[in-house]
Amino acid sequence: MKLPELKIAGFTAPIPLIQGGMSIRVSTAALAAPVANCGGIGVIGGSALPADVLRADILKAKRNTDGVVAVNVMYAMKEFYRQVMVCIDAGVDMLITGAGFSRDIFKIGKEHNVPIIMIVSSPGIAKLAERLGAAAIIVESCEAGGHLGTDKTLREIFPAIRDVVKNVPLIAAGGITNGFEMAEYMDKYGADGIQIASRFVLSEECDVDNNFKQAFLDAQKEDIVLTSSPVGMPGRAINTQFIRSLTAGEDLKVKKCAYKCLKKCDHHYCISERLMAARDGKLDEGLFFSGMNTYKMKDILPVAEIFKQFVTDAESVYKEGKGFSPA
Ligand SMILES: Cc1cc2nc3c(=O)[nH]c(=O)nc-3n(C[C@H](O)[C@H](O)[C@H](O)COP(=O)(O)O)c2cc1C
Repeated sequence: MKLPELKIAGFTAPIPLIQGGMSIRVSTAALAAPVANCGGIGVIGGSALPADVLRADILKAKRNTDGVVAVNVMYAMKEFYRQVMVCIDAGVDMLITGAGFSRDIFKIGKEHNVPIIMIVSSPGIAKLAERLGAAAIIVESCEAGGHLGTDKTLREIFPAIRDVVKNVPLIAAGGITNGFEMAEYMDKYGADGIQIASRFVLSEECDVDNNFKQAFLDAQKEDIVLTSSPVGMPGRAINTQFIRSLTAGEDLKVKKCAYKCLKKCDHHYCISERLMAARDGKLDEGLFFSGMNTYKMKDILPVAEIFKQFVTDAESVYKEGKGFSPA
Protein backbone atom coordinates (compact mmCIF):
# COMPACT_ATOMS: atom_id res chain seq x y z
CA MET A 1 0.00 0.00 0.00
CA LYS A 2 1.17 3.53 -0.79
CA LEU A 3 2.84 5.38 2.08
CA PRO A 4 1.04 8.51 3.28
CA GLU A 5 2.50 11.97 2.76
CA LEU A 6 4.10 13.73 5.70
CA LYS A 7 2.36 17.03 6.44
CA ILE A 8 4.13 19.41 8.79
CA ALA A 9 2.47 22.80 9.29
CA GLY A 10 1.92 24.11 5.74
CA PHE A 11 4.49 21.80 4.14
CA THR A 12 3.98 18.43 2.51
CA ALA A 13 6.73 15.88 1.92
CA PRO A 14 5.38 13.27 -0.54
CA ILE A 15 7.53 10.61 1.15
CA PRO A 16 7.39 10.47 4.97
CA LEU A 17 11.16 10.43 5.37
CA ILE A 18 13.38 13.06 6.99
CA GLN A 19 17.12 12.97 6.42
CA GLY A 20 18.67 13.59 9.83
CA GLY A 21 20.80 16.73 10.20
CA MET A 22 24.51 15.92 10.53
CA SER A 23 27.09 18.41 11.74
CA ILE A 24 29.73 19.55 11.00
CA ARG A 25 29.36 19.77 7.23
CA VAL A 26 28.25 16.14 6.86
CA SER A 27 24.75 17.02 5.72
CA THR A 28 25.04 20.11 3.57
CA ALA A 29 22.98 21.37 0.63
CA ALA A 30 24.74 18.73 -1.47
CA LEU A 31 22.73 16.07 0.38
CA ALA A 32 19.67 18.00 1.55
CA ALA A 33 18.63 19.17 -1.94
CA PRO A 34 18.57 15.70 -3.57
CA VAL A 35 16.71 14.33 -0.54
CA ALA A 36 14.09 17.07 -0.92
CA ASN A 37 13.96 16.41 -4.68
CA CYS A 38 13.14 12.77 -3.93
CA GLY A 39 10.16 13.86 -1.84
CA GLY A 40 11.69 13.68 1.64
CA ILE A 41 12.74 16.53 3.95
CA GLY A 42 16.37 17.49 3.37
CA VAL A 43 18.18 18.75 6.45
CA ILE A 44 21.37 20.79 6.67
CA GLY A 45 23.39 20.22 9.85
CA GLY A 46 23.70 23.83 10.94
CA SER A 47 25.47 23.51 14.30
CA ALA A 48 28.84 25.28 14.44
CA LEU A 49 28.68 26.58 10.88
CA PRO A 50 29.76 30.22 10.55
CA ALA A 51 26.77 32.45 9.71
CA ASP A 52 27.90 33.22 6.15
CA VAL A 53 28.55 29.54 5.37
CA LEU A 54 25.20 28.49 6.81
CA ARG A 55 23.36 31.18 4.90
CA ALA A 56 25.10 30.29 1.62
CA ASP A 57 24.32 26.60 2.12
CA ILE A 58 20.62 27.24 2.75
CA LEU A 59 20.41 29.44 -0.36
CA LYS A 60 22.19 26.75 -2.37
CA ALA A 61 19.78 24.07 -1.19
CA LYS A 62 16.77 26.28 -1.95
CA ARG A 63 18.13 27.01 -5.45
CA ASN A 64 18.49 23.30 -6.15
CA THR A 65 15.11 22.05 -5.01
CA ASP A 66 11.45 22.98 -4.78
CA GLY A 67 11.10 20.42 -2.00
CA VAL A 68 11.24 20.93 1.75
CA VAL A 69 14.54 22.09 3.29
CA ALA A 70 15.18 22.30 7.04
CA VAL A 71 18.17 23.13 9.21
CA ASN A 72 19.08 21.27 12.38
CA VAL A 73 20.63 23.45 15.09
CA MET A 74 21.54 22.06 18.51
CA TYR A 75 20.42 24.15 21.49
CA ALA A 76 23.78 23.40 23.13
CA MET A 77 25.49 25.75 20.67
CA LYS A 78 26.55 29.16 21.99
CA GLU A 79 25.32 30.85 18.80
CA PHE A 80 21.98 29.01 18.82
CA TYR A 81 19.72 32.06 18.51
CA ARG A 82 21.99 33.78 15.99
CA GLN A 83 22.00 30.63 13.85
CA VAL A 84 18.23 30.36 14.11
CA MET A 85 17.88 33.92 12.82
CA VAL A 86 20.36 33.26 9.98
CA CYS A 87 18.20 30.29 8.93
CA ILE A 88 15.00 32.29 9.09
CA ASP A 89 16.49 35.22 7.15
CA ALA A 90 17.79 32.82 4.50
CA GLY A 91 14.28 31.45 4.02
CA VAL A 92 14.58 27.96 5.48
CA ASP A 93 11.27 26.04 5.47
CA MET A 94 11.52 24.63 8.99
CA LEU A 95 13.90 24.33 11.93
CA ILE A 96 14.79 21.16 13.82
CA THR A 97 16.33 21.39 17.26
CA GLY A 98 17.49 19.13 20.09
CA ALA A 99 20.39 18.60 22.53
CA GLY A 100 18.76 20.85 25.13
CA PHE A 101 15.43 22.61 25.26
CA SER A 102 14.53 26.17 24.36
CA ARG A 103 11.08 27.56 25.15
CA ASP A 104 11.90 30.75 23.25
CA ILE A 105 12.42 28.94 19.97
CA PHE A 106 8.69 28.30 19.73
CA LYS A 107 7.93 32.01 20.14
CA ILE A 108 10.51 32.85 17.47
CA GLY A 109 9.04 30.22 15.16
CA LYS A 110 5.54 31.65 15.62
CA GLU A 111 6.70 35.24 15.11
CA HIS A 112 8.38 34.34 11.81
CA ASN A 113 5.94 31.65 10.74
CA VAL A 114 8.65 28.98 10.66
CA PRO A 115 7.64 25.54 11.96
CA ILE A 116 9.77 24.19 14.80
CA ILE A 117 10.42 20.46 15.06
CA MET A 118 11.72 19.16 18.35
CA ILE A 119 13.91 16.09 18.85
CA VAL A 120 13.00 14.29 22.08
CA SER A 121 13.74 11.06 23.92
CA SER A 122 11.09 11.11 26.65
CA PRO A 123 7.31 11.51 26.97
CA GLY A 124 7.65 14.51 29.33
CA ILE A 125 9.68 16.60 26.90
CA ALA A 126 7.50 15.49 23.99
CA LYS A 127 4.37 16.67 25.82
CA LEU A 128 5.98 20.00 26.68
CA ALA A 129 7.15 20.51 23.10
CA GLU A 130 3.66 19.84 21.74
CA ARG A 131 2.10 22.20 24.29
CA LEU A 132 4.56 24.98 23.42
CA GLY A 133 3.79 24.69 19.71
CA ALA A 134 6.12 22.16 18.07
CA ALA A 135 4.94 21.49 14.51
CA ALA A 136 6.25 17.91 14.68
CA ILE A 137 8.25 15.79 17.10
CA ILE A 138 11.11 13.42 16.36
CA VAL A 139 11.63 10.55 18.80
CA GLU A 140 15.34 9.74 18.81
CA SER A 141 16.53 6.56 20.51
CA CYS A 142 19.85 5.08 21.63
CA GLU A 143 20.48 3.47 18.22
CA ALA A 144 21.00 6.93 16.68
CA GLY A 145 24.35 8.42 15.76
CA GLY A 146 25.74 11.52 17.46
CA HIS A 147 24.59 12.80 20.84
CA LEU A 148 22.07 10.64 22.67
CA GLY A 149 19.35 11.63 25.12
CA THR A 150 18.45 8.09 26.19
CA ASP A 151 19.83 4.59 26.61
CA LYS A 152 16.54 3.06 25.45
CA THR A 153 15.81 1.56 22.05
CA LEU A 154 13.28 3.01 19.61
CA ARG A 155 10.90 0.11 20.14
CA GLU A 156 11.11 0.78 23.91
CA ILE A 157 10.57 4.55 23.91
CA PHE A 158 8.32 5.18 20.93
CA PRO A 159 5.00 3.79 22.29
CA ALA A 160 5.02 5.89 25.48
CA ILE A 161 5.67 9.05 23.44
CA ARG A 162 3.02 8.08 20.86
CA ASP A 163 0.57 7.89 23.77
CA VAL A 164 1.09 11.53 24.76
CA VAL A 165 1.60 13.25 21.40
CA LYS A 166 -1.86 13.67 19.94
CA ASN A 167 -1.97 16.54 17.50
CA VAL A 168 1.28 16.78 15.57
CA PRO A 169 3.23 14.31 13.44
CA LEU A 170 5.52 11.98 15.36
CA ILE A 171 8.66 10.73 13.65
CA ALA A 172 10.75 7.65 14.57
CA ALA A 173 14.55 7.97 14.48
CA GLY A 174 17.49 5.77 15.44
CA GLY A 175 19.00 2.75 13.75
CA ILE A 176 16.50 2.39 10.90
CA THR A 177 18.21 0.84 7.88
CA ASN A 178 15.46 -0.28 5.49
CA GLY A 179 11.91 0.18 4.30
CA PHE A 180 10.57 -2.86 6.15
CA GLU A 181 11.48 -1.18 9.43
CA MET A 182 10.00 2.06 8.11
CA ALA A 183 6.68 0.27 7.53
CA GLU A 184 6.91 -1.42 10.93
CA TYR A 185 7.29 1.92 12.75
CA MET A 186 4.46 3.46 10.76
CA ASP A 187 2.07 0.49 10.92
CA LYS A 188 2.72 -1.07 14.31
CA TYR A 189 3.98 1.91 16.27
CA GLY A 190 1.86 4.64 14.70
CA ALA A 191 4.78 6.77 13.48
CA ASP A 192 3.89 9.38 10.88
CA GLY A 193 7.30 9.05 9.28
CA ILE A 194 10.92 8.23 9.97
CA GLN A 195 14.22 10.09 10.20
CA ILE A 196 17.40 8.38 9.03
CA ALA A 197 20.93 9.74 8.89
CA SER A 198 23.67 7.09 8.74
CA ARG A 199 22.19 5.55 5.59
CA PHE A 200 22.68 8.93 3.88
CA VAL A 201 26.35 9.16 4.85
CA LEU A 202 26.63 6.18 2.52
CA SER A 203 25.15 8.09 -0.40
CA GLU A 204 27.02 9.37 -3.43
CA GLU A 205 25.83 12.90 -2.74
CA CYS A 206 26.98 13.12 0.90
CA ASP A 207 29.77 15.63 0.81
CA VAL A 208 32.29 14.00 3.21
CA ASP A 209 35.74 12.65 2.42
CA ASN A 210 35.77 9.11 1.03
CA ASN A 211 37.62 7.92 4.15
CA PHE A 212 34.52 8.82 6.17
CA LYS A 213 32.36 6.60 3.97
CA GLN A 214 34.99 3.85 4.00
CA ALA A 215 35.04 3.93 7.82
CA PHE A 216 31.25 3.37 7.69
CA LEU A 217 31.62 0.53 5.17
CA ASP A 218 34.38 -1.12 7.21
CA ALA A 219 32.61 -0.84 10.57
CA GLN A 220 31.61 -4.10 12.21
CA LYS A 221 28.95 -4.27 14.90
CA GLU A 222 31.51 -4.10 17.73
CA ASP A 223 33.25 -1.07 16.17
CA ILE A 224 30.28 1.22 16.85
CA VAL A 225 30.57 2.39 20.43
CA LEU A 226 29.40 4.88 23.01
CA THR A 227 31.78 7.63 23.94
CA SER A 228 31.80 10.92 25.85
CA SER A 229 31.36 14.40 24.44
CA PRO A 230 32.23 17.88 25.74
CA VAL A 231 28.52 18.67 25.24
CA GLY A 232 27.92 16.57 28.37
CA MET A 233 25.91 13.85 26.64
CA PRO A 234 27.02 10.40 25.49
CA GLY A 235 27.66 10.07 21.79
CA ARG A 236 27.64 7.13 19.40
CA ALA A 237 30.60 6.88 17.05
CA ILE A 238 33.01 4.55 15.29
CA ASN A 239 35.83 3.26 17.48
CA THR A 240 38.74 4.98 15.75
CA GLN A 241 42.15 5.80 17.18
CA PHE A 242 40.84 9.04 18.67
CA ILE A 243 38.12 7.18 20.61
CA ARG A 244 40.62 4.56 21.77
CA SER A 245 42.90 7.33 23.10
CA LEU A 246 39.94 8.96 24.84
CA THR A 247 38.91 5.64 26.39
CA ALA A 248 42.46 5.03 27.53
CA GLY A 249 42.31 8.30 29.45
CA GLU A 250 44.85 10.22 27.38
CA ASP A 251 44.87 13.95 27.88
CA LEU A 252 43.33 15.30 24.66
CA LYS A 253 42.55 18.81 25.89
CA VAL A 254 43.45 21.61 23.49
CA LYS A 255 45.63 24.39 24.87
CA LYS A 256 43.46 27.19 23.56
CA CYS A 257 39.81 26.94 22.56
CA ALA A 258 39.65 28.12 18.94
CA TYR A 259 35.91 27.75 18.32
CA LYS A 260 34.04 28.65 21.51
CA CYS A 261 31.12 26.76 19.96
CA LEU A 262 29.28 25.39 23.00
CA LYS A 263 27.31 27.15 25.74
CA LYS A 264 28.84 24.74 28.24
CA CYS A 265 31.96 22.81 27.27
CA ASP A 266 33.93 20.59 29.61
CA HIS A 267 36.92 20.88 27.26
CA HIS A 268 38.10 17.28 27.58
CA TYR A 269 38.60 17.52 23.84
CA CYS A 270 37.55 19.93 21.11
CA ILE A 271 34.43 18.58 19.43
CA SER A 272 34.49 21.05 16.53
CA GLU A 273 38.07 20.15 15.69
CA ARG A 274 37.36 16.40 15.89
CA LEU A 275 34.17 16.50 13.81
CA MET A 276 35.89 18.59 11.14
CA ALA A 277 38.80 16.12 11.10
CA ALA A 278 36.28 13.33 10.48
CA ARG A 279 34.58 15.23 7.70
CA ASP A 280 37.99 15.71 6.09
CA GLY A 281 38.69 11.98 6.34
CA LYS A 282 41.40 12.05 9.03
CA LEU A 283 40.88 8.52 10.30
CA ASP A 284 43.15 8.73 13.35
CA GLU A 285 42.11 12.16 14.61
CA GLY A 286 38.45 12.38 13.67
CA LEU A 287 35.25 11.77 15.64
CA PHE A 288 33.04 9.74 13.28
CA PHE A 289 29.50 9.85 14.63
CA SER A 290 27.52 6.83 13.47
CA GLY A 291 24.24 5.08 14.12
CA MET A 292 24.33 1.69 15.85
CA ASN A 293 23.29 -0.20 12.71
CA THR A 294 25.71 1.28 10.21
CA TYR A 295 27.42 -2.10 10.02
CA LYS A 296 24.33 -3.48 8.28
CA MET A 297 24.79 -1.15 5.30
CA LYS A 298 27.38 -2.22 2.80
CA ASP A 299 27.00 0.02 -0.24
CA ILE A 300 27.21 3.63 -1.33
CA LEU A 301 24.12 4.51 -3.36
CA PRO A 302 22.65 7.57 -5.06
CA VAL A 303 20.06 9.30 -2.86
CA ALA A 304 17.36 8.46 -5.43
CA GLU A 305 18.20 4.74 -5.14
CA ILE A 306 18.06 4.89 -1.32
CA PHE A 307 14.58 6.40 -1.60
CA LYS A 308 13.50 3.83 -4.19
CA GLN A 309 14.63 0.93 -1.99
CA PHE A 310 13.03 2.34 1.17
CA VAL A 311 9.73 3.12 -0.53
CA THR A 312 9.53 -0.16 -2.49
CA ASP A 313 10.27 -2.28 0.59
CA ALA A 314 8.02 -0.22 2.87
CA GLU A 315 5.09 -0.23 0.45
CA SER A 316 5.41 -3.99 -0.10
CA VAL A 317 4.36 -4.55 3.53
CA TYR A 318 2.74 -1.27 4.66
CA LYS A 319 -0.94 -1.63 5.50
CA GLU A 320 -2.50 1.57 6.74
CA GLY A 321 -0.71 2.95 9.77
CA LYS A 322 -1.95 6.16 11.29
CA GLY A 323 -0.65 8.70 8.77
CA PHE A 324 -1.14 12.13 10.33
CA SER A 325 -3.90 14.27 8.93
CA PRO A 326 -4.35 17.74 10.37
CA ALA A 327 -7.74 18.43 11.96
C1 LIG B 1 27.58 11.84 11.38
C2 LIG B 1 26.36 12.22 12.18
C3 LIG B 1 26.20 13.52 12.64
C4 LIG B 1 25.05 13.89 13.35
N1 LIG B 1 24.89 15.20 13.74
C5 LIG B 1 23.74 15.59 14.34
C6 LIG B 1 23.51 16.96 14.64
O1 LIG B 1 24.32 17.84 14.36
N2 LIG B 1 22.35 17.29 15.27
C7 LIG B 1 21.38 16.35 15.58
O2 LIG B 1 20.33 16.69 16.15
N3 LIG B 1 21.58 15.03 15.29
C8 LIG B 1 22.72 14.65 14.67
N4 LIG B 1 22.89 13.32 14.32
C9 LIG B 1 21.76 12.38 14.55
C10 LIG B 1 20.92 12.19 13.27
O3 LIG B 1 20.36 13.39 12.82
C11 LIG B 1 19.83 11.12 13.36
O4 LIG B 1 18.76 11.49 14.15
C12 LIG B 1 20.27 9.77 13.84
O5 LIG B 1 21.59 9.50 13.49
C13 LIG B 1 19.34 8.70 13.29
O6 LIG B 1 19.86 7.41 13.42
P1 LIG B 1 20.58 6.66 12.19
O7 LIG B 1 21.83 7.40 11.90
O8 LIG B 1 20.81 5.29 12.74
O9 LIG B 1 19.63 6.67 11.03
C14 LIG B 1 24.05 12.92 13.64
C15 LIG B 1 24.24 11.60 13.19
C16 LIG B 1 25.36 11.24 12.47
C17 LIG B 1 25.50 9.83 11.99
